[in-house]
Amino acid sequence: MRRRFIAGNWKMFNGPSATSEFMSAFVPKLASSEDIASNINKGMMEVAVFAPFVSLDAATKGKEGSPLIVGAQNMHWEKSGAFTGEVSAPMLKELGCTHVIIGHSERRHIFRETSEDLHKKLLAALEENLTPVFCVGELLEERESGSTFDVIRKQLMAGLKVMDGSDVADKIIVAYEPVWAIGTGKTASSEDAQEVCAFIRKLLADTFGEGVAEKTIILYGGSVKPENTASILSMKDIDGVLVGGASLKPDSFLGIAKAAVQ
Ligand code: 13P
Repeated sequence: MRRRFIAGNWKMFNGPSATSEFMSAFVPKLASSEDIASNINKGMMEVAVFAPFVSLDAATKGKEGSPLIVGAQNMHWEKSGAFTGEVSAPMLKELGCTHVIIGHSERRHIFRETSEDLHKKLLAALEENLTPVFCVGELLEERESGSTFDVIRKQLMAGLKVMDGSDVADKIIVAYEPVWAIGTGKTASSEDAQEVCAFIRKLLADTFGEGVAEKTIILYGGSVKPENTASILSMKDIDGVLVGGASLKPDSFLGIAKAAVQ
């Protein structure tokens, strides 16, 4: 059975003080919630927050002693250099990050990151042993024109090209986030999300073999809330959720983790 991965992407919310407050409230709740703690201890679940760069130090300090994972939302592909405003994988590791989101739709569409940029970022993250959460997802017009699967195939394959199965199995988490469901309150139906996540697993199987596909964690993201988590996670190929708005407050994020207990 694949473990569940419950991730909060805080986007440009929760500065350092809000992060410390979140940690003071969330970490004890996570520890005292017996079913979640037991799932985490047995390796059946992981819970992660992806904080803004400036809040990572507060997040890693605030979670000390807790199995909560702290990750970043982006990184540059070079280790260092003249890249004003950028942050590298070794810098993230130095702060205690173990994971990093690569290719969130807001990076693709607002900041115009290309598939080639994302491919370089994935390789750089793997080189530093950071686990990338690699996001793919279609726009509303792409869904309406029937090109969802084409878009997903292109994004996934452009990111993972030249890799072999050993780079992917257990090392990369894939997140399916339909752009039209992000921050809109519109969730893809569990069945629609399952259909695309199954397609992603099939692509992984065709490219890297069944063994790799079976091991890979695939998440759904887009208007996930405590109330719809159980239904989404009841789907065979959805192993976790990537949560925006509902991860910002300790109680709602905890409610999502509770609904994910298996
Ligand atoms: P919302 O949960 O706010 O829709 O955001 C989803 C998302 O983009 C997570 O990465």
